[in-house]
Amino acid sequence: MNFSELLRMRRAVRDFLDDDVPISVIREIIKDSCLAPSAANMQPWQFVVVTGRDRLKRLSDESKANLLEDLEKNPNSLLRNYEAILRNPSYNVFYNAPCLVYIGGSPMVRSLNLDCALAACYFMFSAVARGLGTCWVALGSKIRNPGLLKMLKIPDDYQFVAPIILGYPRVIPPVPDRAGPRILSIIE
Ligand SMILES: Cc1cc2nc3c(=O)[nH]c(=O)nc-3n(C[C@H](O)[C@H](O)[C@H](O)COP(=O)(O)O)c2cc1C
Repeated sequence: MNFSELLRMRRAVRDFLDDDVPISVIREIIKDSCLAPSAANMQPWQFVVVTGRDRLKRLSDESKANLLEDLEKNPNSLLRNYEAILRNPSYNVFYNAPCLVYIGGSPMVRSLNLDCALAACYFMFSAVARGLGTCWVALGSKIRNPGLLKMLKIPDDYQFVAPIILGYPRVIPPVPDRAGPRILSIIE
């Protein structure tokens, strides 16, 4: 696969084969992610790897419940657009993927969101190069239950940035419509 093919093959994958992803492969992908640039080369990203569909289902249920709780407190939130799926008990935000990797870190790092988003990009491309599919699932990051946080070994000051599911794709969707490039100016 050349670089241009890699860019086209990196799609949001939401349908996975039953096969598990070997931990050694996940480690290689995480190593590649750490080649991403970061502000002042701080490399603030920290990774939490979760495997097992039952565990992912529990995390999906927890995140959905917390998002709905947040929506009740703030009824004008944009979360309203997702209310129907969040209330659907059979909707798994992680699409029954075999593996989930949270990328995040300390909120004390000002560039945490940018740095982790770059690591997430590298993560997704490295996964595609290895025949895997990924999807960034923002709806899967509202984990507050102390027992679950303990199970994940997440420190108190951890901020979730990028929850990325990983697995062997059953289907790789075509590139969804893209608007043409909005180049405001080319000054020659
Ligand atoms: C920050 C971010 C959050 C996203 N959250 C979700 C999500 O919660 N659930 C989901 O199914 N897809 C989610 N996606 C995937 C996007 O829907 C997807 O990237 C977009 O439709 C474009 O498709 P493509 O990735 O195949 O180009 C998210 C993507 C990004 C970058």
